[in-house]
Amino acid sequence: FTLSLLISLIIFTNGWTGSADMQSGMCLSYRSAFSAARTSSMVGGLQKTVTFDKLFVNIGGDFNPDTGRFSCRIPGAYYFAFTVGKHPKKILSVMLVKNGQEVQAIAYDEHKCKQRKVQSQSIMLSLESMDTVWLLLHDHPKFGLYSNAGTYTTFTGYLVDMHLQKNFRSAFSVARTKSLLGERTREESKKAITFDVEYINIGDNLNKSSGQFICKVPGAYYFSFNVGKHPLRAVSVKLMKNYNEVQAMIFDDNSSKSREMQSQSLMLSLKQGDVIWLYSQQDEQYGVYSNHGKYITFTGFLLYPDESRLYTNKLEKT
Ligand SMILES: *[C@@H]1O[C@H](CO)[C@@H](O)[C@H](O)[C@H]1NC(C)=O
Ligand SMILES: *[C@@H]1O[C@H](CO)[C@@H](O)[C@H](O)[C@H]1NC(C)=O
Repeated sequence: FTLSLLISLIIFTNGWTGSADMQSGMCLSYRSAFSAARTSSMVGGLQKTVTFDKLFVNIGGDFNPDTGRFSCRIPGAYYFAFTVGKHPKKILSVMLVKNGQEVQAIAYDEHKCKQRKVQSQSIMLSLESMDTVWLLLHDHPKFGLYSNAGTYTTFTGYLVDMHLQKNFRSAFSVARTKSLLGERTREESKKAITFDVEYINIGDNLNKSSGQFICKVPGAYYFSFNVGKHPLRAVSVKLMKNYNEVQAMIFDDNSSKSREMQSQSLMLSLKQGDVIWLYSQQDEQYGVYSNHGKYITFTGFLLYPDESRLYTNKLEKT
């Protein structure tokens, strides 16, 4: 999808009129995307970096499955998503790290039960050339991740937005490092989940103190959000549009002691002024869990601006 998007953006924003060959050559060199899977389990302690033995896509060659590392070649905003399998009787804790130190976000499940299942996490990061990103399994034998030929464990990343583009840019990725517990309230109005960490906010369309994203460029937007389940609380988090329109939700009514993750994603067609936010049910039984590991994340980006808008802009320019 990025190819046609980039061609449109380069033509419309820069008024660039190179030959067709040059256009595709230029765009091809600005592509970066990978998707990989792991077909075997891992136990914490022996190996920390999650490596991959199946490579579905590696456009640009920026991902090395043997080392598990993505090295940034083209500076820009990258979307990363990973899903990891929980190993029977082990705790799951896998974090996305940038340049070895900064813990960006975690997928977690502390059930010690025998069942296998998967947990997911996704964020967008702003990368400079040479920055590296990989997945780290918690360094202790009580942790583990599960996979088999069914490839429970996957890692995907792609360039969404280059610093080169000028107009039609909108992308945010934020996280919350504190839990949010529902409480009984007489207030009619629903309060948005707010955030205290900002990874990316291109176009400044998201206000992390109010938790609201306000659409400036009409078009098709991709949204994804992840939350941690709070011990002894159920989870109900809704992706809201404008005042009261539910678009999608996360739900888990098991108020067990354990912490785990829940995820959701979808695409919406937005008009200028549309407001998108997350709502966690305000009741004593409900809550969402987070700490410095940033279990609660919210990401959104413009995938395709409305064509009519591109056309209008082109006419205005010529
Ligand atoms: C962001 O939201 C906060 C809290 O609602 C508000 O006080 C602040 O003015 C908003 N900032 C902008 C730039 O709108
Ligand atoms: C809630 O989750 C726990 C841990 O996975 C499980 O043992 C229990 O049976 C679940 N309860 C219900 C009602 O599903």
